[in-house]
Amino acid sequence: MEKFHLSKRLQHIADFLGDGRRIADIGTDHAYIPIQLAKAGRIDFAVASDVGEGPVAIATANVRDNGLADVIDVRLADGLAGLRPEDGIDTLFIAGMGGLLIRDILTAGLAHLDGTETLILAPNRDDEALRIWLAQHEFGILDEDLVEELGHVYPIIVAGQTKPEVPYQEADLILGPVLRQRRSALFLQELDKRIVKTQAVLTNLANAQADQAAKIAEERARLALFEAERNA
Ligand SMILES: C[S@@+](CC[C@H](N)C(=O)[O-])C[C@H]1O[C@@H](n2cnc3c(N)ncnc32)[C@H](O)[C@@H]1O
Repeated sequence: MEKFHLSKRLQHIADFLGDGRRIADIGTDHAYIPIQLAKAGRIDFAVASDVGEGPVAIATANVRDNGLADVIDVRLADGLAGLRPEDGIDTLFIAGMGGLLIRDILTAGLAHLDGTETLILAPNRDDEALRIWLAQHEFGILDEDLVEELGHVYPIIVAGQTKPEVPYQEADLILGPVLRQRRSALFLQELDKRIVKTQAVLTNLANAQADQAAKIAEERARLALFEAERNA
């Protein structure tokens, strides 16, 4: 049986699976997440789908080499288009893409969701845009974490269609409501980085030739939000 080692990031993402037993991994690439979960006996069924023929070929070979073809169905599909009602998916993973692409996949694929699924989303950028989309579509953010790998910090967002009673504040959408509550060392480290980065942007804007008043106001507001969060 083929052995493989899940990266720290992928292991952390896979660990977020709750009670779900029937998962879909969208943009599965090598199918590492479903293979890991199937080998651990944590799922009964997975759809591992990807829009690329190359990834689908690799995923198919990996699933076969691990003897999991009866548990993991590899499909060539754009976004959620490969999901069928009879799959009975309870948990969707979408990881390793930008938040804007994940948002577009969810928008295009809304008809494939029945509202009971848990979404485990791990964008590699633009997590704010994704939280805004989730709030607009009444997906509550149930859990969050940050994982650091090779110097890059990735957020993991777990969402479900809970229609949250408390609307999220701007800081929740930018920084993550659960991450804000927990204030982990990694969260504070990232906040410090954003403060320094925003200060540098403001210095550059102050030296710019063209009128940057609107952009300066926007960046100042962001800096104030980050500093208030740091001092909270
Ligand atoms: C960088 S890989 C991430 C793989 C894995 N999910 C991870 O987190 O390591 C991104 C994968 O998403 C796939 N992808 C991009 N757009 C997609 C779409 N619209 N629908 C399905 N898969 C997509 C790509 O083909 C690629 O295999």
